[in-house]
Amino acid sequence: MTVLVAVILFGLGVVSRITATRVIYLDAILYFSGGLIGTGHHWYFNGHSELNMALSAIFSAMEVIPLTLLTLDAWDFIKVTRTQRDLSGEHIPVPHEWTFYFIMAVGTWNFFGAGVFGFLINLPIVSYFEVGTMLTVNHGHAAMMGVFGMLAIALMVFSERHVSTEAKWNGLKKYFKISFWGLNIGLLMMVIFSLFPGGIMQFRDVLENGYWHARSLHYTGQDTARLI
Ligand code: HEM
Repeated sequence: MTVLVAVILFGLGVVSRITATRVIYLDAILYFSGGLIGTGHHWYFNGHSELNMALSAIFSAMEVIPLTLLTLDAWDFIKVTRTQRDLSGEHIPVPHEWTFYFIMAVGTWNFFGAGVFGFLINLPIVSYFEVGTMLTVNHGHAAMMGVFGMLAIALMVFSERHVSTEAKWNGLKKYFKISFWGLNIGLLMMVIFSLFPGGIMQFRDVLENGYWHARSLHYTGQDTARLI
């Protein structure tokens, strides 16, 4: 994913070759040195040693670093371009505007969905009480749709822009705008109004009444016998 984003951002001319290459190398080093160990956060309780658990937690937390750096760099470029435009009064369009914005969404969700929400449940001591509750779902949705979903759409927009004439693109642009804001605001609302608070409530129930209780059909409201 980081490589794809780096190549696209370089192709759009918003990050330099050296930045893209550095980030790809950083990602490759992280991946080869600790990527496999990092996936260990999915099986903390399958008989890991303490050392294994600690290494899994550390390496997985570092996964988000390269893409975050890349996003910040690309955003800096856009800010500089905007400043120049303000000074000269001349309009400099952002290249492949909607592809760029979807890629920025990838970076943002990578930071919050994978980084912040992933980190929130990443410590083995937290995971012991939390794994499989709505806080995992909260992270899973924000990271999966936010990062890979938005990336897939960014690639679709990129291709569409390439095969469209200027006139056709001007007609299509508004749909991508609606799709960009609709998807991002929708995902944000799902996280803020449902998954995150639901996860915190469930976590509280784990601490007060036990893990078994917080995951029971009774607690989740799926207990049809009770409803009837
Ligand atoms: C774009 C990157 C990521 C994606 C798409 C992603 C996606 C997911 C998904 C779908 C799950 C649920 C798995 C399940 O229920 O079996 C999950 C679980 C989890 N993720 Fe991530 N994740 C990402 C990055 C991260 C990062 C960077 C961290 C650490 C900071 C992290 C920590 C965790 C933890 C601790 C769990 C719970 C363990 C489990 O249920 O297996 N994730 N992730």
